[in-house]
Amino acid sequence: MVDDTGAESTTDVAVARTVAPTVDRIGADSVDVGAIAAALRSIVDDDLACGARAVLRDPIHPGERCLYVGVVDSVRRATATGRMLAREVLHSMGVSPGPILRTTGGRADWPAGIAGSIAHDDAVAVCVCGAGVNITIGVDVEPAEPLPREIVADVVSTELERALVGNDLVLARLLFCAKEAVYKACFPLDAVFLEFKDVWLLEPATSTAGSWLMATSTGRQVRVQVRRAPRLLAVARVVSSLVPMAP
Ligand SMILES: CC(C)(COP(=O)(O)OP(=O)(O)OC[C@H]1O[C@@H](n2cnc3c(N)ncnc32)[C@H](O)[C@@H]1OP(=O)(O)O)[C@@H](O)C(=O)NCCC(=O)NCCS
Repeated sequence: MVDDTGAESTTDVAVARTVAPTVDRIGADSVDVGAIAAALRSIVDDDLACGARAVLRDPIHPGERCLYVGVVDSVRRATATGRMLAREVLHSMGVSPGPILRTTGGRADWPAGIAGSIAHDDAVAVCVCGAGVNITIGVDVEPAEPLPREIVADVVSTELERALVGNDLVLARLLFCAKEAVYKACFPLDAVFLEFKDVWLLEPATSTAGSWLMATSTGRQVRVQVRRAPRLLAVARVVSSLVPMAP
């Protein structure tokens, strides 16, 4: 476990891989991937495996080349690193996958019996996986930087969210990150496109504690564990399908 500053950087290598070769990685100087993996591990349930990896220069699996036709280099590197990491996380669970392609809707096509989620920014990829048909998870990662003011109003949609965020634009970005993680967790269940305003905080009073209960316009309740440091991280897990009223 780590405190809210993300200071501790020890990891359980079996389930939270922090492999980061000293060559061929992008943006490595500014990313403490060990601290990110530790922070992720601290917010991921014990029955799930997870990991983080610095984005690499050329990590493409031969069986995944079809994913990269016409894709710009930065996206190709991030996507391929996410998949390399996903294979490492799956190995830690005793699963040996080949290529990880895509299903309709853009999510990764996981091996049978596995649920998982991948996210990446320019410098780091993260992945969370679990075994079992009832597991529905989503992960997101973002640099710990302010959300551009012009999109804050789109993301911070309810009175309760406005009260939580105030003028803290990094917290606004964490809310953005949480809503994207919720979308990824819910899409495999509902196959419904959600706008930011289709996802909202249910428990603002406890929201600064790092565990947010959120609801969707499709009737899902989702627990989202969040961290602000060393990078914005959100791990969403669907907890029920009770239908909450729209805010
Ligand atoms: C899915 C989405 C949220 C990903 O966000 P992003 O910032 O582009 O990229 P991230 O790095 O966070 O995540 C990318 C990964 O998400 C996964 N993903 C893509 N579509 C997905 C979906 N429909 N459901 C679950 N996971 C999905 C993929 O594994 C993808 O990685 P890959 O392209 O390397 O395979 C975004 O592409 C999208 O479709 N947004 C529309 C919906 C939305 O954002 N609504 C507002 C929030 S409710």
